[in-house]
Amino acid sequence: MNYRLGLIGYPIEHSLSPWIHNQFLEKTSLNGNYSAYEIAPQEFEQNIKDFFSLDLLGFNVTIPYKQKIIPYLDELDEYAAQIGAVNTVKNKDGKWIGYNTDGQGYIRSLKGKFPMLFSDNNRRILLIGAGGAARSIYYALVTEGFLNIDITNRTLEHARDIKGMKSGLTTTEVLSIPDAERNLDQYDLIIQTTNVGMSPEKDVSIVMLNHVNPSTIISDIVYRPILTNMLEQAKVKGAYLHYGHTMLLYQAQYAFEIWTNKKVVVEGMEEQLKTILE
Ligand code: ATR
Repeated sequence: MNYRLGLIGYPIEHSLSPWIHNQFLEKTSLNGNYSAYEIAPQEFEQNIKDFFSLDLLGFNVTIPYKQKIIPYLDELDEYAAQIGAVNTVKNKDGKWIGYNTDGQGYIRSLKGKFPMLFSDNNRRILLIGAGGAARSIYYALVTEGFLNIDITNRTLEHARDIKGMKSGLTTTEVLSIPDAERNLDQYDLIIQTTNVGMSPEKDVSIVMLNHVNPSTIISDIVYRPILTNMLEQAKVKGAYLHYGHTMLLYQAQYAFEIWTNKKVVVEGMEEQLKTILE
């Protein structure tokens, strides 16, 4: 079997997915390759048809096509349907099935580093942001059984939409950013899910961590730079740090598992990825 895999998005020249998945193919001794196919937005309609006719076994979908790809697929798994976005597609007996591995990838990355967090589903969690990434992570946290997940965001309406996704299963409060900032000491885990703080605007943070406890885990999904402004603040406070590149690796691990049924051991790759990003 030849595992022909790929990625569509725009722009994708700096994507780390080809490096990650080609390493996975090597580690599992599977024949195949993973290539990036850049499709410009104005050419999406024409080029996506040609892309499907390449008849790959599977592919990843990144910005800006995570929603746009949906009408071209035959089925969505439960996660992708709930989140309304797809980052992984598999050709299953001629049918194109859409998945979303972001949320579960995030959970995997966290579980590996902080298993104790998962011993009590009453842990208090604050999600910062209410975009696509926040939606995936929120859904995965609720599915994991966590009962107290608050959301803060610049636009409160967007946070309320996320809360509505699984209402009744958790107590979720929607907070303004200043209100959240005043109460950071209540949380066991704080997750930054927006692209605020990403290079080149790396000296900003959406939330100031003045009131954070050293026992809190501060997690940022931004991985360029590795040490974001928010994580730098967390370091000064003596809090626990959870880095964004680990989520990148584990969402890829899960996608690769969907395509090949093989679970790659990724722990050793975290340091390599960090070196590439630094
Ligand atoms: P993604 O799918 O990558 O999560 P998105 O759906 O565009 O991206 O969501 C972006 C998130 O970053 C949102 O929470 C957005 O806040 P709003 O809902 O108020 O738009 C947040 N965001 C982006 N730029 C921001 C900024 N400069 N300040 C505060 N929040 C910002």
